[in-house]
Amino acid sequence: MDVSPFPHHGPLEPGQLPAQTDLVDDLVQRVTERRVTALLGPRRYGKTTALRAVADRLDDTTTTVWLDLYALASWSDLADRLDRSLAAIGGAGSPSLHELAARINLPLGLLAIELRKPADQRPDPILLVQAQLDLLIEASRTRSIVLVIDEFSGVVGVEGAAAKLRTGLQHHFQEIGLLFAGSEPSTMQMLFTDRAEPFYAQADLIEAPALDLATIDSLVRGGFDDTGRSAGSIAASIAEFTGGHPHRVMELADAIWRRVEEGGTASEADVALAISDVMAATDAGMERLFSSFRSAEQLVLRLVAQGETLFGAYAGSMGLSNGGAQHARAALVDRGHIRRVGSRIEIVDPVVAEWIRRRFG
Ligand SMILES: Nc1ncnc2c1ncn2[C@@H]1O[C@H](COP(=O)(O)OP(=O)(O)O)[C@@H](O)[C@H]1O
Ligand SMILES: [Mg+2]
Repeated sequence: MDVSPFPHHGPLEPGQLPAQTDLVDDLVQRVTERRVTALLGPRRYGKTTALRAVADRLDDTTTTVWLDLYALASWSDLADRLDRSLAAIGGAGSPSLHELAARINLPLGLLAIELRKPADQRPDPILLVQAQLDLLIEASRTRSIVLVIDEFSGVVGVEGAAAKLRTGLQHHFQEIGLLFAGSEPSTMQMLFTDRAEPFYAQADLIEAPALDLATIDSLVRGGFDDTGRSAGSIAASIAEFTGGHPHRVMELADAIWRRVEEGGTASEADVALAISDVMAATDAGMERLFSSFRSAEQLVLRLVAQGETLFGAYAGSMGLSNGGAQHARAALVDRGHIRRVGSRIEIVDPVVAEWIRRRFG
């Protein structure tokens, strides 16, 4: 059996990236011009994939330092993550990062050990972070460096961390390219648009786009062709069901592909069955997710999935007050479960929407 041409577990490797290059081109240009940029978008919308592709494209000329702040817990956690990021590129260039670190007595790549020592022998993690940022700046004098901070919204987990990153780097935005990404829409917005935040007005915000029909068509066609199958005309159905949600596009394309024998052609019937396959595979997770919402949020999700208004008589009869609807809607938007598209509200993840429609009719 062939390996599926539609990987959908985690970010894609640059070589696996289907032909969607506009976003990557734009980010490469921005980071090359040293315009600080933040890529916003829902979970599993291809942000990390795009950032990896950017790093890959710059690879010949630029060293990328990759920092992931997902669920950041403490200053030590931040120092530890920075240490790993810096150690990962430690040998490259001359003088190497290891040599530069040695000059300022920074134990590069060994922090995990240091942080396990008793409290009185442990280095101060805030000073470590400062030294690590200094190292980054020092290194940028002899090579081109881009700092990619993925899941940047995690920075709010440690008070003062955003301010430290800002003050540590602020005079060096021209030397060090800075690229942020994050999934928590309200937190990401807040970090760059709230006057009280250290990164206020420091970055251009751009949205990770949904995949358009032409892109879906070419990636589906390519994947089927490369594995001796024909995609027929299923791209439009995939686009319609998924709304271009990158992860769901790939997941559904994969489920359809698994139903088509080598030499065969995909049909609409395969699409319908594959949607049911995806629903079955995700059912337990969807139920857990749905149960985790408050009851007003559950009602709002049901109404949005069914295309009903949140403030009419029907919503009222279901037990949703106007105030309750407003509050729940705001909370769901903040966490990226629903979003405004023009004057409409929609559920971001098409599988969540479908699960609710199937469960509640
Ligand atoms: N350019 C792309 N083309 C097609 N599918 C993509 C693309 N980028 C991401 N995906 C799909 O989305 C999934 C999630 O991508 P990822 O980069 O991890 O998203 P995020 O970082 O926004 O959570 C991938 O496993 C892949 O299936
Ligand atoms: Mg990601």
